[in-house]
Amino acid sequence: MISNIRTDYKKEGFTRENLVENPIELFREWFKAALENERYDPNAMSLATVNNLGYPSCRIVLLKEISEMGFTFFTNYESRKGQEMEANNRVAATFFWPEMERQVRIRGYVEKISEERSDSYFSSRPIDSQISAIVSSQSKPIEDLSPLREHAIRIKEENQPIKRPENWGGYIIFPSKIEFWQGGANRLHTRFEYRLEDNNWKIKQLAP
Ligand SMILES: Cc1cc2nc3c(=O)[nH]c(=O)nc-3n(C[C@H](O)[C@H](O)[C@H](O)COP(=O)(O)O)c2cc1C
Repeated sequence: MISNIRTDYKKEGFTRENLVENPIELFREWFKAALENERYDPNAMSLATVNNLGYPSCRIVLLKEISEMGFTFFTNYESRKGQEMEANNRVAATFFWPEMERQVRIRGYVEKISEERSDSYFSSRPIDSQISAIVSSQSKPIEDLSPLREHAIRIKEENQPIKRPENWGGYIIFPSKIEFWQGGANRLHTRFEYRLEDNNWKIKQLAP
């Protein structure tokens, strides 16, 4: 029975003493722990965008870089999310690290990263992934995958260096709010929210 599924969170141990001034630093610490402890895709995050009618859409993307400025991921600029972010650059992203009993929620706005940095990441990808980015008009309706597979084979047979398509690249999320959640006993979880105010991070604890 779904209603009987119940996890007891026991890790705890997240207190005000663990807080540092800059939440990106704390995120790096938590991410390091996630890399060491999570079995699957510790860099997977759900990314929420909003369309022009105000409907949110959520999907998983992979975090590829953390910097002082924010969080970078890569996608097709003409995909559904790409179009939504073009019209409204406000987004939210959530990480869930079950082994650590942790969640991190980010709110902010996105900007495309430079073409040079997208080129550089694109060229570091396996060749088959590079080719897939070329043949797939992400989010467009298709009959089936066979034309895409055939196109990919033709490109591979040409045996030429692959250039990043212009419609594919990175976005950086500049955070304005980051919340850290640590599971606690009896559902009394610990939540600390950082909010950017006049270029300073203000911290509040929130009720679970
Ligand atoms: C584990 C996982 C990782 C994914 N990583 C990415 C990614 O980094 N970039 C991306 O564009 N889509 C990624 N996807 C696919 C997206 O969830 C989504 O299907 C796709 O981007 C199309 O979304 P859209 O139609 O809302 O634009 C991933 C899916 C999963 C399950």
